[in-house]
Amino acid sequence: MTIDYSERIPNNVDLANDRALQRALEHWQPKFQDWWGEMGPNDFSGADVYLRTAVGVDAQGWASYGAVKMPDYRWGIFLAEPVPERTIGFGDHFGQPVWQQVPGDLRSQFRRIIVTQGDTEPASVEQQHLLGHTCPSLYDLRNLFQVNVEEGRHLWAMVYLLHAYFGRDGREEAEGLLARHSGDPDNPRILETFNQPISDWLSFFMFTYFTDRDGKFQLKSLAESGFDPLSRTCRFMLTEEAHHMFVGETGVGRVVKRTLEVMKELGTDDPDKVRGHGAIDLPTLQRYLNFWFTSSMDLFGSEVSSNAASSFANGIKARPDENQYADHLCSEAQFELETPQGKESVSLRNAMNEVLRGSYVKDCQIGVKRWNMQIQRAGFDFRLALPSARFHRSIGVWVNTPVDPAGQLLPREQYDRQLPEWLPSDADQAFVRSVMQRIVQPGKIAGWIAPPDRGINNLPVEYEYVRL
Ligand SMILES: [Fe+2]
Ligand SMILES: [Fe+2]
Repeated sequence: MTIDYSERIPNNVDLANDRALQRALEHWQPKFQDWWGEMGPNDFSGADVYLRTAVGVDAQGWASYGAVKMPDYRWGIFLAEPVPERTIGFGDHFGQPVWQQVPGDLRSQFRRIIVTQGDTEPASVEQQHLLGHTCPSLYDLRNLFQVNVEEGRHLWAMVYLLHAYFGRDGREEAEGLLARHSGDPDNPRILETFNQPISDWLSFFMFTYFTDRDGKFQLKSLAESGFDPLSRTCRFMLTEEAHHMFVGETGVGRVVKRTLEVMKELGTDDPDKVRGHGAIDLPTLQRYLNFWFTSSMDLFGSEVSSNAASSFANGIKARPDENQYADHLCSEAQFELETPQGKESVSLRNAMNEVLRGSYVKDCQIGVKRWNMQIQRAGFDFRLALPSARFHRSIGVWVNTPVDPAGQLLPREQYDRQLPEWLPSDADQAFVRSVMQRIVQPGKIAGWIAPPDRGINNLPVEYEYVRL
């Protein structure tokens, strides 16, 4: 399953043998390139960037490195190898062969899920449109661009499915994916988290840690799908997505490291003094974490959802790593849900969003634990923490409930008064922006973040990852 790079659209789906599909995608391609030129990191179009491009979908082929100008990046369509004799692993169609076409009665449900997933990919490129101007190092600048081009490719992945399996509706949806824009008051992106601008690198690292991780869990549950092309697409996207979360985890870890160095040097954890030295104090990190974690939690949807139940029942979307569960039907099982009114028992199928969110929270804990190890080793008492799943929620049973980050119900008036202590204030954001100076000398790094432990693809940290 090698990827054919002699084609206008690199692919491993034998596009050359489906002329109509090939023509439709070749018609969409220049629109994508115009979108990239307008909404992507266009001030860096002439830069040579040391990027990873997939040349195959196996372990050897998926990461080939070299200097590329971003507008020349070979975005393409790459599906993971099919699993022979694969059967549907959950829901009412359990045990039946997977589908190579979308079943007619599930068309609109599949389409909605693919469009919603697809919409987040270009959205994040738009959110990060200007970020390159304040990069803390060339290493980080390269990572930003790597994430950007891969999110562009993920858009291709979803547009391929829309074009290949949803006819004219699918082609219209593919146009819509380029017409909506992050933060556009008239035509915004579908999910609110993807309408927040990412104008500083701390937000970028929090986004790649928390929001890309939502992506990981959505892709993992779609990788289980009974619609095989969707499953194979998502399986390959997951290999790329891992790097985005690596950027987030190591990014936050390097900020913590630098802050601890400054705290040690000054012999204090006083946030003002830490800031005076150009580092980001730990309480500010906690407020950014609170914002991006809670915003990403909302992406999983309401705790009780008939949509989630029917997606599971119909073989569209399972739990991540479905095979780790014993019961793949979940037609009888109940789920204990915590609500502001107390415990409530709901059918497990209806609680699938909550099951997904639970796995996500566990995964988020891993990085927080590592960051706290750093703080502990440096001899400070401060600990970062994920806020309670009840805190600062915009959807679901806890929406607008006055709860503190520990999950305790508070009198409304006290909550309103204290909320600014828990989320980034205007002053926090202004401070964080103030330390974002652009550093583009090879091997140099901004004062608010520690250098990475190692470079990309065994190259030294000082390597000139972007030639401006
Ligand atoms: Fe993505
Ligand atoms: Fe991503």
